[in-house]
Amino acid sequence: MPDSAPCRLVVLVSGTGTLLQALIDACADPTYGAEVVAVGADRDSIAGLQRAKNADIATFVHPLQRGADRVQWDRELTALVAAFRPDLVVSAGFMKLLGPHFLSAFSGRVINTHPALLPSFPGMHGPRDALAYGVKISGATVFLVDEGVDSGAILSQAAVPVAEDDTVETLHERIKGVERELLVSTTRQLANCSWHVIDRKVHWE
Ligand code: GRF
Repeated sequence: MPDSAPCRLVVLVSGTGTLLQALIDACADPTYGAEVVAVGADRDSIAGLQRAKNADIATFVHPLQRGADRVQWDRELTALVAAFRPDLVVSAGFMKLLGPHFLSAFSGRVINTHPALLPSFPGMHGPRDALAYGVKISGATVFLVDEGVDSGAILSQAAVPVAEDDTVETLHERIKGVERELLVSTTRQLANCSWHVIDRKVHWE
């Protein structure tokens, strides 16, 4: 996306938003090449939304109620995000699967980050599942979102050692330290370079 205007990021969050904060901090540098134009959440009263407000970034909340029509929810989320004309959508700890309508509206421009080395340990509990399996190395993955669960083309990965005495919490925190750096560096690359995907492999131009 080489362009003189900063790459417009809409970031989706569900929790504490430390990944979001890393992006906000990175965007403060004008040479970074991106700006967070809006932050969306699927729930209210989370620290992630407060971080956006503290930085004077527009926010919106779009909950998925129990039993709600998921297709409708997906269409509404698409419209909310589209209103901010993103170049890139970053799912940063957003705990909902993005639907087909959303993914076709922002085709190839939605990224996600996962606290494990995909394709190992996809899903909601990457650190827990890696720990339970007994791996000695885990890590973080940033990838292009497709319609599967954590199954899109891989943009970047970084390894994190698992300690003997790790709990799910200590491992996840160590991974998140690396995950934040990886998300920031990968977003910088996406904001400033062109890329294409052939047979799942991401090629930078
Ligand atoms: C990250 O590890 C993300 O990959 C996972 O949830 C965590 C979000 O952390 N899905 P935070 O809300 O950005 O602090």
